[in-house]
Amino acid sequence: MAQTTYPQRYTITAALPYANGPVHIGHLAGVYIPADIYARYLRSRGRDVKFVCGSDEHGVPITIRAKKEGITPQQAVDKYHELIKSSFADFNISFDIYSRTSSKTHAEIASGFFRKLYDEGKFIEQTTKQYFDEKAQQFLADRYIVGTCPKCGNENAYGDQCESCGTSLNATDLINPKSTLSGEPPVLRETKHWYLPLDQYEPWLREWIVEGHKGDWKTNVYGQCKSWIDQGLQPRAVTRDLNWGVPVPVEGAEGKVLYVWFDAPIGYISATKDLTPDWETYWKDKNSKLVHFIGKDNIVFHCIIFPAMLKAHGDYVLPDNVPANEFLNLEGNKISTSRNWAVWLHEYMQDLPGKADVLRYVLCANAPETKDNDFTWKDYQARNNNELLAIFGNFINRAVVLTHKYYNGAVPQRGALAPYDEEVLAQLADFPEKIALSLELYRFKEALGELMNLARLGNKYLADTEPWKLIKTDAARVETIMNIALQISASLAILSEPFLPETANKLANMLQYTAGKWNEAGSPDLLPAGHTIGEAALLFEKIEDVVMEAQVQKLLDTKKENELANAVAAPAKEDITFEDFSKIDIRVGTILEAEKVAKTKKLLKLKVDTGLDQRTIVSGIAEHFNPEEIIGQQVSVLVNLAPREIKGIVSQGMLLMAENADGSLAFMQPSKPVVNGGGVS
Ligand code: 2FM
Ligand code: ZN
Repeated sequence: MAQTTYPQRYTITAALPYANGPVHIGHLAGVYIPADIYARYLRSRGRDVKFVCGSDEHGVPITIRAKKEGITPQQAVDKYHELIKSSFADFNISFDIYSRTSSKTHAEIASGFFRKLYDEGKFIEQTTKQYFDEKAQQFLADRYIVGTCPKCGNENAYGDQCESCGTSLNATDLINPKSTLSGEPPVLRETKHWYLPLDQYEPWLREWIVEGHKGDWKTNVYGQCKSWIDQGLQPRAVTRDLNWGVPVPVEGAEGKVLYVWFDAPIGYISATKDLTPDWETYWKDKNSKLVHFIGKDNIVFHCIIFPAMLKAHGDYVLPDNVPANEFLNLEGNKISTSRNWAVWLHEYMQDLPGKADVLRYVLCANAPETKDNDFTWKDYQARNNNELLAIFGNFINRAVVLTHKYYNGAVPQRGALAPYDEEVLAQLADFPEKIALSLELYRFKEALGELMNLARLGNKYLADTEPWKLIKTDAARVETIMNIALQISASLAILSEPFLPETANKLANMLQYTAGKWNEAGSPDLLPAGHTIGEAALLFEKIEDVVMEAQVQKLLDTKKENELANAVAAPAKEDITFEDFSKIDIRVGTILEAEKVAKTKKLLKLKVDTGLDQRTIVSGIAEHFNPEEIIGQQVSVLVNLAPREIKGIVSQGMLLMAENADGSLAFMQPSKPVVNGGGVS
């Protein structure tokens, strides 16, 4: 295959996650897995790579989380920074640095950036009226204001969005706004802020993106940018009235901080500075290729606002590409932190230890590269059992076990090649470049598919040549076959490393092979004849149904908790008079007998001691209670309901039940034993 020339130096960034909660599979699939595969691949190709990330520790998302947990913003970011950092380490995300925006370097770089633009007159100053909480003595970010949505009437809409109807709002749109800090209605007060006049950058952005990056940026990214630009860009405030963040470094800006979306992307630069004294080369030399890995909700910030900031500054390179992914859903529903609808990475690691690569594999194979995708535990299990285990694991296991069986673990000589061997070796030689081509184009799913095709090639080669049969009749030929199978295995150790680093490492150990670089893969001579390989070890294990059922149950429990938490009581019925009420005769009774009514699903036939008599009641509770468990329980009985026949049984009265939001039922019982026949009023 023809070799293309690629740049030599890369600055790869992965979106800085807010340090306001743990990270989940959506983060991994959208940003960190593709970024890590890319960085590992480039390193394997011998390119000069700095892969930087860190926690985004400023802004309202942090102060809100701190308030919710009753801790300071600093305590909140300290807690989540550590948790996030260790989750990334668990999944072997190979950042060269995982920094944080509360660092000293970051404050210096972000302030310096703002100050340069300020001194050069690149901002405009504007005074506007914003909501102020007089009791808390502070201006209110949109998320600190709730009120009634003018669209749907939801009384808990936020100042930027109504989560009930999805409408995006301005705080001043809310009816009866209230501060969440004090509960008081806020007042409008004048405040001055600095704005980046994005409108002035519009012609340049159009030329740079709409004309310059058509075809090389992903369609979803390009389309979003074009639509923003076509709608016309407005000046964007880059400062906020907040007491948490990088202080605005100019006089007259007391109590103001840089807008989190101004300081966060600068965090990529400060992380690089914390990493290496040579940081400027990675940000200022035009031969450095800057690539931002992000999720689709970050596109405008990385493709329009940050580039406009970089352009205004003038010293820095612009992103060469921004391969944003779409979103990953979970079992058919949007991943949601507030509804706890997520697979949290730290919990995954506890529940499924040693399976980091399995999740990496599944999330890449099912990556939301061009559209939103769904993660299901069923698919996870199938991909592990039918792909990783049955194809990759099976091939390696056969190759290693047979080498031990026939040659005591020593790589046999490769003799004269049959045409089929030549064909297989030719295909092997093509794989590194084929996989590379997909990776260079940010097509990670496709690249992983090709990697698996190499394992398939090995599997098929052994299945077709059947060395286990041939060994009895043509031992010399088997030597050649096993030599080729082992060369394929060694190439897999190199080529799988970006995708499955733990597996690649295990495989290299098994082969007693110091895995070479990407360009060596595909060679038929990675393992010399006579080299002794190690013992066979399983690369992957079968995942049983019961393990998956536990994960699905965990989600079902979450669903139930959400339903209960979000339950809305049915509206009250019409008023009745006391006279109406006094017609109802409710007594405490005890269930004496209970049995299912034959040929029905829902009905139980009960004998109840009502204090007045022992009577039969047919109740539709069979799906909620086992007959034997309710005998002896006290219940409330409506005793003067006219008798009626149900399935041939005369029912004399009705048990009173309370219904939960999920449809489950509970008896209305006295809080301490009451004599049967005791009136309920
Ligand atoms: O959306 C988010 O989670 C942001 N914290 C991403 C910031 S990316 C970069 F600009 F730092
Ligand atoms: Zn609404």
